[in-house]
Parts: sequence; C-alpha cells; structure tokens
Amino acid sequence: MFDLARIEGCGLVARIDYHEAIGSTSDRALELGATEETKLPLLVLAERQTAGRGRGTNRWWSDEGALTFSLLLEAPAERLPPTRWPEVALAAGVAVSDALRALAPRAELHVKWPNDVYLAGRKVCGILSESVPGWRDRLVVGIGVNVNNRGQRPGDRGQWTGAREQGVSAMSLVEHDGVARDLTTVLIAVLDEMDRRWSDLLAGEFEKVATAYRASCLLTNKMVTIEQPGGSVVAGLCAGIDDAGRLRVQTERGEVAVLSGTVVAWEGRD
Ligand code: BTN
Repeated sequence: MFDLARIEGCGLVARIDYHEAIGSTSDRALELGATEETKLPLLVLAERQTAGRGRGTNRWWSDEGALTFSLLLEAPAERLPPTRWPEVALAAGVAVSDALRALAPRAELHVKWPNDVYLAGRKVCGILSESVPGWRDRLVVGIGVNVNNRGQRPGDRGQWTGAREQGVSAMSLVEHDGVARDLTTVLIAVLDEMDRRWSDLLAGEFEKVATAYRASCLLTNKMVTIEQPGGSVVAGLCAGIDDAGRLRVQTERGEVAVLSGTVVAWEGRD
C-alpha cells in the first residue's frame, strides 16, 4: 500500500491518479494527457499492472513488490522543445540510479544507454518515454523498478519479454541485498531526483545530466553493438555520451554518434 499523503508532498507531483490494478500506467497517463483539463505534472501510480509495456514490442509484467508508475509532464516548447525530448529519458535514468544509490549505497548501479538502469550487471529498471499524440508539449515517462519482487529471470512473470530483450537478466533490490524496502520511500526518492533533473532540463542545463550520466555509464570503454531504427547496426568501442545525449561509438570508419537505437550486445554482458 502506498502512502499517498506523503507522495502528494513531492515537488514534482500536482495530482495523483492511483490504482490498485491497471493495465498500464503509461496508457492511462496518455489517455489523461489527451484531455484539456488535466492538472500537471500528473503521477499515475499502480500497485499492479496487468498489461505493462516496454520499449518496442516488449511487455513489462509487474509482480507484487515492483514499483510501476508514469509521469505526465508538460514541456513548454520554449524551454524544452520536442527535439530535446531524448534528454528526458536519459535524465530519468540518472534520477532512478541516483535515487537507488542513496537507498542502497553499496549497490553497483549503472545507466545503460539510453534509459535502463542496471544493478550488478542486470536490469533493475526500465524507462519508457512517449509523447502524447496531438500535443506538442506533453510527454509521458513510464518507470518500472524491481524493488521487492523476486525471481527475475528471462521469460518469467515479473520480467519483460520480447524479441529485443530476450536473454536480458533482471535483478531487484531485494535480490541484491536481501532488504525489503518501503515502496513509498523508493518512489519519493525517485520523484525527488526526477524533480531535480527535470529542473535541469527546463533550465537548459542538460550538461549537468550528461555529467552524471557519464559518471555511471555502463557501456563506456566497452565494445558495443547497437541496432538503429530501420535495422542498421553500429559496432565499436563506446566512448560515452556526447553533449546532446547521443552515444559515441568508435567504429572502424571513425566515430559515430548514435541518436537512438537498442544496444543489443556489449562486452561483459551477463
Ligand atoms: C523497457 O525497459 O522496455 C521499458 C519498461 C517500462 C515499464 C514501465 S512500468 C510503468 C510504465 N507503464 C508501462 O506500461 N510501462 C512503463
């Protein structure tokens, strides 16, 4: 059970839409975001999702003990135009990894480009950033964090499935250190970090996000293979992200800056 009164006190949240069970918090946020009178930022929060979505065709199941929520955010075009929206997913990854680090100081946490968080080499959080159809200034950031749920093996319930992500091993905080955490506390920690990073973005200070991202980038100095939209593949040595959030990859033909895609293989992958 979430403590909604505590969550309401978070700077980032103007309204909470709470559900014991729902298909997908992101679907609900997109639905509410399509209406005029929604008070923003809106947090859609669920104890359980029955039809959670991941990137592409992936699905995301959320067993008890997992944290699943979506934020419907307003991005004024003069402060954060749609061309810069890829920054939002990177900022969310940094926010989650910083929040989890504060809650589990000994945990080995990294961001995996563009917007996953890894714990001890396994996926602990997935982030899905989407624009609201018909709106130039609204976007939904859906976040799923494995907190107290267990048994995160590929293909299991509580795991995401789908062609791209098959073979990805998952991890939860409780599996890592045996400590069950209060989900309200974890959520507030993430929202507070997200509030800070959202302010950075609206202030035009993506470099602050990028600096934090570089400090915990999983892929830097590793050989990576990236599938780009359209099917082309980039392979080479990862040199971190550039000032626009693109992944720098040193290939045989020189350095390439990748704007979007899925890292399907990397050195040291579990
Ligand atoms: C991914 O790793 O592919 C992204 C997973 C995003 C999952 C979250 S859980 C809350 C929100 N609602 C959804 O349906 N998806 C996101």
